[in-house]
Amino acid sequence: MNELILVLDFDGQSGRAIARKVRDLGVYCEVLPHTAEIQRIREKAPRGIILTCPSGGVCDVPEVLQLGVPVVEVSSNAAVSREEGLKDFLYNTCACRGDWKMGDYAARTVQVLKEKIGDKKVLCALSGGVDSTVAAVMVHQAVGRQLTCIFVDHGLLRKNEAASVEQMCRETFDINLIRVDAAHRFLGRLAGVDDPEQKRKIIGEEFIRVFEDEAKKIGTVDFLVQGTIYPDIIESGTDGSAVIKSHHNVGGLPDVVDFKEIVEPLRLLFKDEVRQVGLELGIPAELVWRQPFPGPGLGVRVIGAITRDKLDILREADAIFREEINATGLDRELGQYFAVLTNIRSVGVRDGARTYDYTVGLRAVKTSDFMSAEFARIPYEVLEKVSGRIVHEVDHVNRVVYDVTPKPPATIEFE
Ligand code: XMP
Repeated sequence: MNELILVLDFDGQSGRAIARKVRDLGVYCEVLPHTAEIQRIREKAPRGIILTCPSGGVCDVPEVLQLGVPVVEVSSNAAVSREEGLKDFLYNTCACRGDWKMGDYAARTVQVLKEKIGDKKVLCALSGGVDSTVAAVMVHQAVGRQLTCIFVDHGLLRKNEAASVEQMCRETFDINLIRVDAAHRFLGRLAGVDDPEQKRKIIGEEFIRVFEDEAKKIGTVDFLVQGTIYPDIIESGTDGSAVIKSHHNVGGLPDVVDFKEIVEPLRLLFKDEVRQVGLELGIPAELVWRQPFPGPGLGVRVIGAITRDKLDILREADAIFREEINATGLDRELGQYFAVLTNIRSVGVRDGARTYDYTVGLRAVKTSDFMSAEFARIPYEVLEKVSGRIVHEVDHVNRVVYDVTPKPPATIEFE
């Protein structure tokens, strides 16, 4: 058990940021809504409590004050950034020693998984994203080939992505991997569909079906791995965040897999902690630092109806953009950067002849939480190089545009 600091979230927004800061300072921290029962707070036996109060407001906490542990109030934004004050609270007022270290966490969790799983069978849906990869590698370290990973290639992945996931699993870790090449199934169902929500729905459903077909071949397993992370489960104080798109991670797997229990080795970790653990476990850095990629993949980056040809065009353009961004070192500063294939065709000229080809859109954003974002001010020289390469190296593209819209009102993705 680690020393615990509790954040009681009164304003519904700064709780996570403070919890992350506390953890960065070496002390384990959880967030509870301000409506949490006093008994629940007492049972957690925190060393100290931080209240996030709306600016200008006060927190109503007489019961909390009677717990006999140090309590401090921080108002939105201002105090969050004052690291010294926070450090003083943790290490002097609450007398914490600072026992939250990712190396220890990884080793301890592997040990716990070993004991829990014993000689039983485990199944994991690998998406190639950071969370499912780190979760799978952790479980693999604990129980080796008792773990089977299923990786569904829906044909909507980026260039070389399926191959690199496969290579990492087989060569770096010797993970028992089943790669399902299901592009024909997905593209068949998607043919002619141009509504974004409809596309998402089809991709989500088909994913479950493909997975179900594979899981049936394996039969009953004891455990199903889920890459749930802490932000997925934090209860916010003012829960009313609007659902803007029908998305975020493919749900529904537990319904089609015959298993007894779920294991969630990352359940307590913030995203950056997941990355640290990933590095501790020896996962290649380029994979650990992979940017978020939507579950429906390039399916929502080819605007309108999807075809194999359009996907191929987009894959090439996107690979060029990412390659150039990485070459400049800008990648670490950007929340996401990718190309989309618009359904605009326009007139151009090449070698003295008229062309009528597609427009590629480039999107690069800076963001802290993906709820809001600003467009990245990428140097013109970089954009010039990217656009030059795309129009010369990728057939059927004669125009490249850069998106300069923040979110809101635009979203990060185009669909
Ligand atoms: P938007 O476009 O809503 O994206 O600003 C916010 C974040 O969510 C990702 N995103 C998705 N992730 N399934 C996912 O798993 C989806 O359908 C989906 N749509 C958007 C997006 O890449 C960004 O990180």
